[in-house]
This record gives sequence, C-alpha cells and structure tokens, in this order.
Amino acid sequence: MKRLRHFLTLEDLTVGELNRLLLEAARLKRQRVRQGTALAGRVVALVFQKPSMRTRVAFEVAVLRSGGSVVYLGQDDIRLGEREPVKDVARALSRYVDAIVVRTFGHGDAEAFAAHSRVPVINGLSDAVHPCQALADLFTLQETFGRLAGLPVAYVGDGNNVLHSLAMGAAMSGIHLAVSTPAGYRPDPAQWRAAVRRAAGSGARLAWHAQPAAAVAGARVIYTDVWTSMGQEREAARRRTAFQRWQVNDALLRRAAPGCRVMHCLPAHRGEEITDPVMERARSLIFEQAENRLYVQQALLQFLMRGS
Ligand code: CP
Ligand code: NVA
Repeated sequence: MKRLRHFLTLEDLTVGELNRLLLEAARLKRQRVRQGTALAGRVVALVFQKPSMRTRVAFEVAVLRSGGSVVYLGQDDIRLGEREPVKDVARALSRYVDAIVVRTFGHGDAEAFAAHSRVPVINGLSDAVHPCQALADLFTLQETFGRLAGLPVAYVGDGNNVLHSLAMGAAMSGIHLAVSTPAGYRPDPAQWRAAVRRAAGSGARLAWHAQPAAAVAGARVIYTDVWTSMGQEREAARRRTAFQRWQVNDALLRRAAPGCRVMHCLPAHRGEEITDPVMERARSLIFEQAENRLYVQQALLQFLMRGS
C-alpha cells in the first residue's frame, strides 16, 4: 500500500517532486481539461477556520475538473477545536472522505489533523505557512522567466506565513530572495533558519535588509502581502504605522531592475502594502498567480491521492 503523504509545508516535497509538480501544473494549464477522471468517485473535504476565496475556489474547481466532489466545512459548521478536539474531527472525517484541505490559525492544528487522519491532509494556510500559495508563486515565476535558479526576487512587507513559504520555495529552487521588513516584523527565526539551511544545497541566496530600497535593488520581481494577516485585526492600526515605508509604490519600483514585475498573493489592501496604480499596471503578475493556484492545486491533489 502507498505511504500516506501530507502537504503541510513545502518541505513535505523533495526538490524532484516539486519540479515534477510544477511540470504537471503546466501540462494541466496547457490542456485545460474540464472533465478529467483522475479523482473520479473521490471526495475532498475543505475544513476552513478562516475566510478564503482563491484557496477554496481553486481547490473546489480542481476537484470538480478531476471528476471528484467536495464537502466544504466552514468554522460555523464544525467549530474546529471548540466543539471537539481537532484529533477527533480528523479521525472521524477521514473515514468519510479521500483527502482533507485545512485552513487553520495555529499550525499545530494542521499538524494534529495530519497526525490523526487516514487520508492526505493539505495545508491551505496556517498562521505559520502558506505552501499552496508558494507552489503557485514558483509556477508563476517559472512560466514568466523560464528559470528559477539565480532569479533576483525581493519581498517587501510583513515577515508572515506567505513569506515563510516563499523563502522555503526560493531555497528549494535556487532563487535569490532579498527581504525587507520592519525590524519588529522579521520572519520567524526558526522558519528563516530552515530556509537558509535548505538554500545551502541549491545555490539560493536569502538575505534580510533593513531598508526596502536595498532589498529591491536589481530585483526583477517585487512581492508583497498584507500588513495585517487574518487573526491580527486588533494590531491593524499599529501595523499601518510601522509599515509605512514598506509600501510597494512607483518610487520603490524605480529602485528595482527596469521592467520589474509585481506579485501579491491577494487579497490586497490597496493604499496600504501596494498602491492602486501598481496593482493595475501591466507589469503585475498578481492575477496570473491567482489563476495558477488552480493548476498547482489540481496537480498536488492528484499527486497526493494517486493510488491511495
Ligand atoms: N491567496 C489566498 O490564499 O487567498 P484566499 O485567502 O482568498 O484563499
Ligand atoms: N498573510 C495573509 C495571507 C492571506 C492569503 C493572511 O494570513 O491573512
């Protein structure tokens, strides 16, 4: 019997698997198969503690296009961790369905889910990481630039879940990632160390800069994300003040390489981390990223559920 595989962080894949998954996503995108059969008769549950548009819809459409069906359970449906322990939800739910996508606050809840599930568990975002987003980001960079190794990318903003997965993705694929965050909002030290360790084997370079202009110098892509993530709403005012100088705007773009592209995982707060004109400009890759969630997540589901 095939070993049960989960996808809680990018490191759950080998570099070879990651590369094959990106190739498969490209094939799915080219072929645009709408009535596939790879997941015929299979059911995927989505257990979401936080709101979502892209992750939820991309998974739902990916399953439908693969011939399977979906059960969505929002926080009002099961009140994860309140009504019963996470491990009991995982044990019971995994007897009904063939894979589970979870979106949690604490990353430990996603881990508990996987530890007690009989079927593959996919992390659709936790406070710590957002690995499905990073798959789409790597895919988008590869289809835009052809090659990831040595590509200079800058991330400007909050040292959050999206950055943690982007840094690990960069480390696994040889990207040169320059990061700038306010000093009090640097990436989590354990996440950053893990990415730096991983970078040693791939030729990737990871660097943190105190000044946004230093991070974007020579960058062919600038990536940003919201200053206030889901669950941090009470800190929003303090964060708006702390992050003022980390806005992605025309002045910052002028410090990057000519023709520099812009990325954002969405949802965006225009006027905070990114300006409206920058989002609307042709050099934005933001909606390509959003579209590509579908193909990478379809490839991921088929990979994890194959033969199980
Ligand atoms: N980027 C992303 O995960 O979007 P949603 O929160 O809408 O799923
Ligand atoms: N960092 C954001 C990403 C949303 C997709 C959050 O966690 O809210």
